[in-house]
Amino acid sequence: MNILLTGASGFIGRNLAAALAAAGHRIKPACRSAGIDFSRMLSVADWLPQLAGVDAVINSVGIIGERGAQRFERLHTLAPSALFRACAQSGVRRVVQISALGADATAFSAYHLSKRAADDCLRNLDVDWFVLRPSLIYGCGGKSAELFMRLARLPLIPVIGNGQQELQPVHISDIVAVVMHSLTSPRTMQTLDIVGPETFTFAGWLQTMRQAQGLPPTRLVHIPFRAAMALTRVGRHFNPMLQAENLRMLQTGYRADGRALTQFLGRPPVTAKPGLFFSAVDPGA
Ligand SMILES: NC(=O)c1ccc[n+]([C@@H]2O[C@H](COP(=O)([O-])OP(=O)(O)OC[C@H]3O[C@@H](n4cnc5c(N)ncnc54)[C@H](OP(=O)(O)O)[C@@H]3O)[C@@H](O)[C@H]2O)c1
Repeated sequence: MNILLTGASGFIGRNLAAALAAAGHRIKPACRSAGIDFSRMLSVADWLPQLAGVDAVINSVGIIGERGAQRFERLHTLAPSALFRACAQSGVRRVVQISALGADATAFSAYHLSKRAADDCLRNLDVDWFVLRPSLIYGCGGKSAELFMRLARLPLIPVIGNGQQELQPVHISDIVAVVMHSLTSPRTMQTLDIVGPETFTFAGWLQTMRQAQGLPPTRLVHIPFRAAMALTRVGRHFNPMLQAENLRMLQTGYRADGRALTQFLGRPPVTAKPGLFFSAVDPGA
């Protein structure tokens, strides 16, 4: 297949590009380094020339915080919606959208609401669509995964409040497997939550990451939620992940039933084990 892959330079996109190329697909990358800036691709007409000869589109562009021209509405909603409409108009049947767990009726953050708006646009089009909503993704090369690995190495681990916020982290190899299957599955028009097989507390997840780095468990430093929110006023200037809304999302905790994912993949998602934190593929697969 000829596949337009947006976000091809990102954590998900790089791993998808490698798997797609290995499976014999031809990839047309769409990211700023390939000359395509989503903040300027806001109309169907902008996208139509990019879709000549394309059989399928995978959208894996996203940001976790706004900065300068990088705005949620443009990158998560307007540009992808224009791309999806261009697909419907030009006969590109298969469209895979990487959304996020929590981009549903409960969404309150600009991150989730802007993702959900594009998901809704795609779900209303006459194409063979997939809306994939991953939980927190881990594996070699992910920005959030690397931030959490660094936190886990500290002599004392900082957590928000009691650190009992729930997560179902999923390995990057499972995201790749789901997208690959979405390209050929006859069961289209699906919204699929992509979650790992185990539920961790935030504190437990950081201790697991610590153990994977060969370090013994350590004590937690409990930062009250309001103090952590105040710290984001400084922290957001150093790391776009350290935004107040991201803390609110972490505090909310997102969980989903993984049975539909297991059915879709024909196997359960991979269970966290030390080697997976340093790898983008499952050595056991
Ligand atoms: N990683 C996770 O844990 C996770 C979990 C759930 C959902 N997701 C979602 O999955 C998607 C990808 O995540 P990721 O971890 O791969 O993120 P990432 O590593 O930060 O990659 C983001 C990609 O978006 C591209 N991009 C950013 N601004 C752009 C712009 N103005 N124009 C064109 N491309 C632009 C980047 O390319 P350039 O900078 O080269 O342009 C890069 O290829 C996001 O939508 C994210 O919300 C991720």
